[in-house]
Amino acid sequence: MTDDRFAARVKATVAGNFDCSPGPYQDFEGRYRFFADLTLGLVELMEVRPGSRVLDVGCGNGVSARVLCENHRCLVVGVDLSAGMIADGRRRLADLDVRLLVGDGEHLGEVVGDERFDCVMYNAALFVFPDPARALAAAAAVLDPGGAIGFSFYPELVGPDGDDLFVTGYERIGAPLPKKRVITTFEDAFRALADRCVEVRRGTWERPFDSALLADFFSIPAQSASLFPRLDIDARRDLARRLFTGLADFDGRGIIRCRLAAGRVAARGGAS
Ligand SMILES: C[S@@+](CC[C@H](N)C(=O)[O-])C[C@H]1O[C@@H](n2cnc3c(N)ncnc32)[C@H](O)[C@@H]1O
Repeated sequence: MTDDRFAARVKATVAGNFDCSPGPYQDFEGRYRFFADLTLGLVELMEVRPGSRVLDVGCGNGVSARVLCENHRCLVVGVDLSAGMIADGRRRLADLDVRLLVGDGEHLGEVVGDERFDCVMYNAALFVFPDPARALAAAAAVLDPGGAIGFSFYPELVGPDGDDLFVTGYERIGAPLPKKRVITTFEDAFRALADRCVEVRRGTWERPFDSALLADFFSIPAQSASLFPRLDIDARRDLARRLFTGLADFDGRGIIRCRLAAGRVAARGGAS
């Protein structure tokens, strides 16, 4: 399969999975404030200033956009492949001055035209982009000189001895580990960021391991697709629940960790 055909297939699958996820996604977020808290971690690493113009790529139904508006008075434009998530976000954010647009984050120029931003962020989104170098080139092109790019990544589950609790969980239910849980790895995304930016840095965001949170998180149709890609939605949800219920003995002892990264494109004249 060519790279372009692979990318088109990934995007169609991602859009389809998220189109049937807004309800469960919001139920989960309402219960745990997971993506909102993760946004705060990313905002800190990116050093987003109050009042910044932020392009939120892979914005989903606008969780980060609300945080950015309410906590940091930012002017936010959100872009997402999923028309279902955008429609849900427009309803939820009707009280805020935010624009949410359907579009492909790899082709930001087609979505935002000549508009320029101080920051481009990807909260829990870049790992499903097939080509991070292309995505971050598109981000750099819509930033003003000195603007920031940042992303947060797919959750890692770390046991008290540093074990990967995904591996433990699959062993316990006797299911094969999927070949990959993300389309793009953190290291590939980080390399693409370092190619575009100066002042590149890494960070982490953590919260205590919580099997009930994870069972709910991976019951969202789009999230369970990364764990059991070949199964239908109901089978995926049931297996995800078994997987995390079987890890309840790690509650409060392990951690849920998301890696973060941020950098700045060069300021005018090349100075950082
Ligand atoms: C896990 S959700 C995160 C949503 C949001 N950032 C949040 O924090 O709640 C990932 C989002 O990335 C979007 N996405 C994936 N690939 C994309 C692309 N190429 N362009 C735009 N959005 C994309 C998906 O449709 C999905 O809504």
